[in-house]
Amino acid sequence: MEAKGVVSLDCCPIYGFSCVVKREVLGAKVMTYKRKEVIGGCTLLLGDCESIMPTIGQFDLVLTDPPYGIDENDKKIASRGKLAAPKDYGVVDWDKKPASPEAIALIREISQHQIIFGGNYFELPPSSCWLVWDKQNGSNDFADCELAWTNLKKAVRRVHWRWNGMIRKGDDVRIHPTQKPLGVMEWCLTHVPNVTAVLDPYLGSGTCAVACIKAGIEFTGIEKNEQYFYAACDRIRKAYDQPDFFVSPPEKPKPIEQIDLLTGDTAA
Ligand SMILES: C[S@@+](CC[C@H](N)C(=O)[O-])C[C@H]1O[C@@H](n2cnc3c(N)ncnc32)[C@H](O)[C@@H]1O
Repeated sequence: MEAKGVVSLDCCPIYGFSCVVKREVLGAKVMTYKRKEVIGGCTLLLGDCESIMPTIGQFDLVLTDPPYGIDENDKKIASRGKLAAPKDYGVVDWDKKPASPEAIALIREISQHQIIFGGNYFELPPSSCWLVWDKQNGSNDFADCELAWTNLKKAVRRVHWRWNGMIRKGDDVRIHPTQKPLGVMEWCLTHVPNVTAVLDPYLGSGTCAVACIKAGIEFTGIEKNEQYFYAACDRIRKAYDQPDFFVSPPEKPKPIEQIDLLTGDTAA
């Protein structure tokens, strides 16, 4: 995404008259957002993806997790985390409606490949390759799996990643009510070869960004909720600050076992 033009301030049609928006001229198009943060290889925009996507250019891959319209809310989330202390994520009101058909169409227009979580909630063409996240939830009312629709020409693939209460896999710190596990996002990226630029128009806590940072992929994210936007920026900064984030630390050498040639006894 190359910015060629000016940045100006104006009254905001999305956030009301009291707040300013920035306009960036990109060739013949004008991009409108409330804030832009560039952190390492990540460009993060605070704004509405439906108005930003038509102006943002092309990407190799959109990997995203839009609102499904299933009314995820404070009560549902608290009851799901019953094995862990419930966390206060504030009012969750963005999941009353699913991402619009226009947003889904834009995602498909501006990218070569798409991986869209909650694909079973949107109008999408038949696909040979759904990515299945098996949450190993045990028996309860919640979904056993989440499905990501893709336009990849390969077979269905599945990952097991437990994500329930205190028995979760991985050490992700939860900062968003519908946060995806980092390991699942990293696994998704492995299904698309030669990716250099990824967009997530529904950034949330920035899980997709962190997976891209780890894989050395340039990333652009859009989030319209200010609280989540700043939390994602913070998480992304912390990811870059981790010295051993990109390369696994070398394994500690195993103690050498010595054998007494006379007695056959071993000593570490
Ligand atoms: C399902 S959550 C994404 C969670 C994310 N995958 C994570 O791991 O944290 C969807 C996010 O999209 C944001 N959102 C909803 N409508 C949007 C829009 N029109 N433009 C940008 N962001 C939007 C919501 O505020 C919410 O944070």
